[in-house]
Amino acid sequence: MKITAKLFALSFFVATIATAFTTQAEDSSPKTTAAAQWNDKDELLQPVNYREWIFVGTPLTPNDMNEGKAAFPEFHNVYIDPASWAEYKKTGKFPEGTVMVKELVSVGSKLAASGAGYFQGEFIGLEAAVKSSAKHPKEPGNWGYYSFTQLGKEPAKVTSIKATQSCNACHQASAKQDYVFTQYYPVLRAESKK
Ligand code: HEC
Repeated sequence: MKITAKLFALSFFVATIATAFTTQAEDSSPKTTAAAQWNDKDELLQPVNYREWIFVGTPLTPNDMNEGKAAFPEFHNVYIDPASWAEYKKTGKFPEGTVMVKELVSVGSKLAASGAGYFQGEFIGLEAAVKSSAKHPKEPGNWGYYSFTQLGKEPAKVTSIKATQSCNACHQASAKQDYVFTQYYPVLRAESKK
């Protein structure tokens, strides 16, 4: 009896340790939380913690350099998700699952102690491009484009894919690498030259 009880206690102990290890292994794996998540209506959820991703550049097309009517008259802070960045550094290519986020920031002050210029104001919008052959088998390059921006409001929590013509077509026509405007992102260019 005593031995059985000890064996039982031991196997319980081993099982507990094994569970603890498995849980820990899952938590520390970057693959468990893909940067892009969709709900059951195929709407993309707003990416989580993207301001902590890898920052690649900030294009700006201000109104006063575009006859007062720039299509996107603000700063565009662009980020890539960390897992895809790690792949990009190895292969120079955007892997399946890449998420590029573009956060729109208004032009705030035009004067600083350093001189006249353009300085960032407030967060005003959020766009994303996701490369997924599973979700976007028919989109050119498998890139799906999403806009969470809502004028004068906080960005939406979820959003559905934009029509190919409204976003993808322009990226296809003039982006330097695989639909991404790497010509404006020095962080990516520096890496692909290595
Ligand atoms: C007229 C051409 C054009 C259209 C249409 C367009 N984009 Fe872009 N997009 C650009 C350019 C140019 C850049 C890079 C420079 C910049 O941000 O101004 C860019 C950058 C981006 C980026 C950053 C990653 C990358 O691919 O460089 C995202 C994300 C993005 N656009 C999403 C969208 C979404 C979503 C739409 C549709 C609602 C859209 N774009 C429509 C021209 C376009």
